[in-house]
Amino acid sequence: MRHLLNPLDFSVEETGRLLDLAVDIEHHLPEYAHVCDGKKIATLFYEPSTRTRLSFEAAMLNLGGSVLGFSSAASSSAAKGESVADTIRMISCYADICAMRHPKEGAPLVASLHSSIPVINAGDGGHQHPTQTLTDLMTIRSLLGRLNHMTVGLCGDLKFGRTVHSLINALVRYGDVKFVLISPPELRIPEYIREDVLLANHVEFEEVDNLDEAMPDLDILYMTRVQRERFFNEEDYIRLKDCYILDKAKMKLAKENMFVLHPLPRVNEISVEVDDDPRAAYFRQVQYGVYVRMALIMTLLEVEKSC
Ligand code: CP
Repeated sequence: MRHLLNPLDFSVEETGRLLDLAVDIEHHLPEYAHVCDGKKIATLFYEPSTRTRLSFEAAMLNLGGSVLGFSSAASSSAAKGESVADTIRMISCYADICAMRHPKEGAPLVASLHSSIPVINAGDGGHQHPTQTLTDLMTIRSLLGRLNHMTVGLCGDLKFGRTVHSLINALVRYGDVKFVLISPPELRIPEYIREDVLLANHVEFEEVDNLDEAMPDLDILYMTRVQRERFFNEEDYIRLKDCYILDKAKMKLAKENMFVLHPLPRVNEISVEVDDDPRAAYFRQVQYGVYVRMALIMTLLEVEKSC
């Protein structure tokens, strides 16, 4: 039995196979309508979510399975003090696979140690968000036709943004990816990403605070929201929340074939006037998230399309 806790839990080859399966699902959706008949996914969300929870549920429903779960800690027995370890033992009796989002880093790992069903990390604190990363990889591969030889700008809250940490972890495994890390000094990437991931893998990167100057070099611009829920004080959040706003004027500085991604939700960091730009790919990214999660459920449950 396998879990997905970290984007590196799948090798580059396994990730490639999963993305190939997601592309096949994209193009032959009806052929997958019954591959998970009789299977159930439990979505255990101790933190708010729209996309991740509902795309897991849509994915399982698209595969012919069923869904159960909770969407807040307050509506579960966590509110009465039940531990993650006990909760997963119960859920293992009710479902075949589960996706867990939790504010505490490492909670899905704890769950996996007490689980008899596959556990998927759907986001743990400011740590990792591996299924967003699979979504991002599918989006980049579909848009550019490759996952190497590119310059990726990551902009916004690089300190608390778990999608950024997971994406850097995943992309360093592909050749010739340069990162431009665009953030105010207070929101730079954590030391462990800089030291253990970028420097340890001899990856080219620069840390800058000016988005305009970075724009012309980028093949991908990955915008992120300033993560209000992870700040210790509201004053710092208010000071930093609008540090970058991508608008039409900034888009004029970018290459014609550059693409803008965002894990969403956005607050102010991408002006709605950018939505109609053909390079704005963040809503296409949401659709890819369903195909990738369908492929992931099939992979972890070891089910295949019948010929
Ligand atoms: N991208 C993402 O994780 O969105 P949600 O918080 O809505 O799940």
